[in-house]
Order: sequence, then structure tokens, then C-alpha cells
Amino acid sequence: MSISPEQILVSSGTSPVMMLLFAVLLEEGDEVILSDPRYACYPNMVRFAGGVPVDVPVYEQDAFQFDPEAVRAHLTARTRAIMINSPSNPTGTLLSAERMAALAELGTPIISDEIYHGLVYEGRERSILEFTPDAFVLNGFSKQYAMTGLRLGYLIAPPAYMRPIQKLQQNFFISANSAAQQGGIAALQCAADDVARMKRTYDERRRYMLDRLRALGLGVAVEPTGAFYVFANARHLGQDSLSLAFDILEKAHLGVTPGIDFGPNGEGFLRFSYAAALDRIAEGMDRLEAYLASR
Ligand SMILES: Cc1ncc(COP(=O)(O)O)c(C=O)c1O
Repeated sequence: MSISPEQILVSSGTSPVMMLLFAVLLEEGDEVILSDPRYACYPNMVRFAGGVPVDVPVYEQDAFQFDPEAVRAHLTARTRAIMINSPSNPTGTLLSAERMAALAELGTPIISDEIYHGLVYEGRERSILEFTPDAFVLNGFSKQYAMTGLRLGYLIAPPAYMRPIQKLQQNFFISANSAAQQGGIAALQCAADDVARMKRTYDERRRYMLDRLRALGLGVAVEPTGAFYVFANARHLGQDSLSLAFDILEKAHLGVTPGIDFGPNGEGFLRFSYAAALDRIAEGMDRLEAYLASR
């Protein structure tokens, strides 16, 4: 893609960029379409700006991806944007090019959180800007470059929105940390080999974790092919994922995220992260195995 520098705003991570974007985009009562499940912070950000998050359920058999017709059925006169995230947190799955094109054709601006681009193990990630210019892209250095604590991210927006968003950025944050920006430039210029190595490592952990979880009877209908999460169906262990995650934490000393955190349709699932080292993942899976045996 060729993007004009005037369309890019650099800030202290994608999270502040999201806040600025929703502040500019939304009036009180405006709606934003979100998938259910989705990244836990999206509805909070929408509500903070006075907006209303509108959940459209997505299903494990369908790789937890938007069905454009279901999205269309939720569009109203107040819909300001459709939010997509591919690869996705919490599911690790990708939105196909066909679905991206179909969503773009709905004629509503799309906010595409592309923060897990670069961490894809099968297939290829696509940017929404390949399909429509009427889109906002969020990205940053927290995932692909593992620079999470340095707080660096950016927004690509249609030209008409840049000035109001820049004004908010300058009032609230002035600029992204300049040392972090130098680190970001170094990452873009020099870190390709490191990212390739890191990706191979993540892929090895992904395969290991999938095998272990399946052997323990946790369901993964469609394998995650991006990000660093497995969203496993644990409904046979109960309908209350928060209590289950808490029990696993208390008894096995293993941290997993309850599916309900990502929306009502995530209830009964557990999210496992493979951002930790392989020996720690192996230890975690051993503990989970012992926990399940003791139930
Ligand atoms: C989907 C998604 N978007 C955004 C973020 C936040 O990223 P940043 O560190 O750039 O604020 C995260 C972090 O977990 C995420 O998973």
C-alpha cells in the first residue's frame, strides 16, 4: 500500500489512538458494530466517547469471523463504523479477503485494528485499505516488534479526519515519546530477521499448545493462524468461564482469560496465550492436565 504521510498519526500505542478516533467519530448515541467475541477494550472505548457498542455474534464453526449479512442486519441510521480485527484477539483467526470486500461494500466506514499483522503463521493477512479508502487502520509496535512497554502506535485515516484527530492528540498527549519513536524507526529498518525468528518461535508454541489442549479435551474448531492466542471451547467444563478461570488460577496457579471478558458469545470459552516461553507453556499444560484430572 502507498499511504501519504499526511494520513498517519503517531501516538503512544493503538489504545490512545482508538480513544482519539472514537472521540472524533462519535456523537452521543452513535453506534459502532463490534464482533462478539472481540478485544475486551473496544466496547469500553466506544462507551467512553458516548457511543453505543452493537454486538454481532460470530461463531467458532465460522472461525469467529463476521458474516457480512449479519452485519448488514444490524446497520441503522446511527451506525458510524464497523470494527474489525484480523488476526483477532481473542481468537487468533483471520478475516478472509472475500469477507473484507463484502464488509467494505456495505458502505459504512470500517475501523480495522491490524495490530497483529506480521504475526501470521498460515495464509496472509490483508489490510482493509486494499478494499476501501473509507477506513481507519490502527497499528503499533506492541505485537510484531514486542515493544509493548515502549507505547508506540499509529492511525491511518482518510484526510478529512486528520486535522481534528491531530488537535486532540496535541492537546492530550503532545507527541509520542521521542525515544520510543527512535526505537520504532530502528525496528522498521533493522528488525525483519528478529521478527522472522520470533514468528517461527510463536508458531512452534502454537502447534504445541493446540496439540496439548486438544489432548486435554478442549475444543478448537478452527485453528488460530495469527496473533498468539488459542480460544478454546471449555463448555463441557461449565457455563461460567469466570469461575472456571478463577478456579484454575487458584488451584493450578495457571493464568487463563475467561471467554466472557470478550463478550457474551465468548461465554464457556477460555483464552490461552502462547506469548510465554515453550517450557513455561509445557509447565502450564501439565498443571492444567493435573487440574482436569482432579475435577
Ligand atoms: C486487538 C488489540 N488491539 C489493541 C491492543 C493494544 O495495543 P497497544 O499496546 O498498541 O495500545 C491490544 C493489546 O492487547 C490488542 O490485543
